[in-house]
Amino acid sequence: MCLSVKVFRFTLSHFHTNTLKHLKMKRKETQAIRTQTERSKFGEHASPIYMTSSYVFENAEHMRAMFAGEEDGNVYSRYSNPTVDEFIDKIALLEGAEAGWATASGMAAVFSTFAALLNAGDEVLSSRSVFGSTHKLFTQIFPKWNIKTNYVSAGEMVSWEDAITPNTKILYLETPSNPALDIIDMAKAKEIAKKHNLIYVVDNCFTTPVIQNPIEFGADLVIHSATKYIDGQGRGLGGAIVGKQELIDEIEAFARHSGPCLSPFNAWMLSKSLETLQLRMERHSQNALEIAKRLQDHDQVEWVKYPFLETHPAYDIAQKQMSMGGGIVTFGIKGGLEAGKNFLDSLEMLSLTANLGDSRTIATHPASTTHSKLSEEERQMVGITQGLIRLSIGLEHVEDIWEDVDQAL
Ligand SMILES: Cc1ncc(COP(=O)(O)O)c(C=O)c1O
Repeated sequence: MCLSVKVFRFTLSHFHTNTLKHLKMKRKETQAIRTQTERSKFGEHASPIYMTSSYVFENAEHMRAMFAGEEDGNVYSRYSNPTVDEFIDKIALLEGAEAGWATASGMAAVFSTFAALLNAGDEVLSSRSVFGSTHKLFTQIFPKWNIKTNYVSAGEMVSWEDAITPNTKILYLETPSNPALDIIDMAKAKEIAKKHNLIYVVDNCFTTPVIQNPIEFGADLVIHSATKYIDGQGRGLGGAIVGKQELIDEIEAFARHSGPCLSPFNAWMLSKSLETLQLRMERHSQNALEIAKRLQDHDQVEWVKYPFLETHPAYDIAQKQMSMGGGIVTFGIKGGLEAGKNFLDSLEMLSLTANLGDSRTIATHPASTTHSKLSEEERQMVGITQGLIRLSIGLEHVEDIWEDVDQAL
């Protein structure tokens, strides 16, 4: 028996009547706000934090039955915790998933997924343009366990099947990717995954469940770094994996004993943040589109990439699978590496920090920072040119964001 989050079972057995009524509402904005742990005898309006590592049993028989898995409930917070359950239930509901598992960071979610589902000798088929730490797992960590990754390009899906071998088990992609903003046709990827019987996994960090739901396009599992937009204020780390029950069960079996669990405090913070996710994503997207358009007209700018700009090579696909463009804009500055560094040094308000998805606008220069450890060839492979600047557009007034970008350019 599994003791962790089983969204529908949890919904039926643990939520009180009020919550059940709210959960019947289909609209996601409401689900994100009204999904809540059962109210305690103190009648609190906001959810409490269940900051406990273990749980007491009524008597010896209850304890025996819980350990034997004969009764449902909480035993130890590495396995399950009510506050963590609330958070992961919300993500599962927002993504339209059967079940979920919460982790301490986005990378814990990525790693746990592969570690749980792969055996030595298995292979991964992945889009080339993935987050730097995911790339490190594929190229430096997994080969230690004889797990190989075959990379394919976002824009050349016709050749993906050539990279599939009898050992390929997972099809993995990020769309839009970090930081190249490559967009992959998720429905087409599903056809390939289905034809070759692959587990289809999408990292949905850049868009959140508000903008795109990969399960609607056939994904078996969806991964989130909750550290980014889900928190939205740069306060703490977290991660989530949601999708098919049978796959989540395998991930849970791995994670219960390897311990990448999310802390109740961070789960509480992230769950509260979900209440405003819809509104925040709307403003992030609105500000980002405006900045992207203005950058296009700037004489110091070579190129601009944003999913909802018509000049994006996969604009049509973005329109099909995303409801908004999201908060990330990339652009190429004239003058390459030096010009990129000068731009960062000239910013007055924008933050220079490694994070993204914050309410504060952030500028990074991946070639000299987050991706500086990659070889030039590797950087090219993931779409990072020397002059590429990544802006994570925040929630400040758009004119203030633009004034700072413009003066730095
Ligand atoms: C697309 C993507 N996936 C995963 C991660 C990892 O998330 P975390 O930093 O929470 O471990 C990141 C972090 O930036 C990311 O951008």
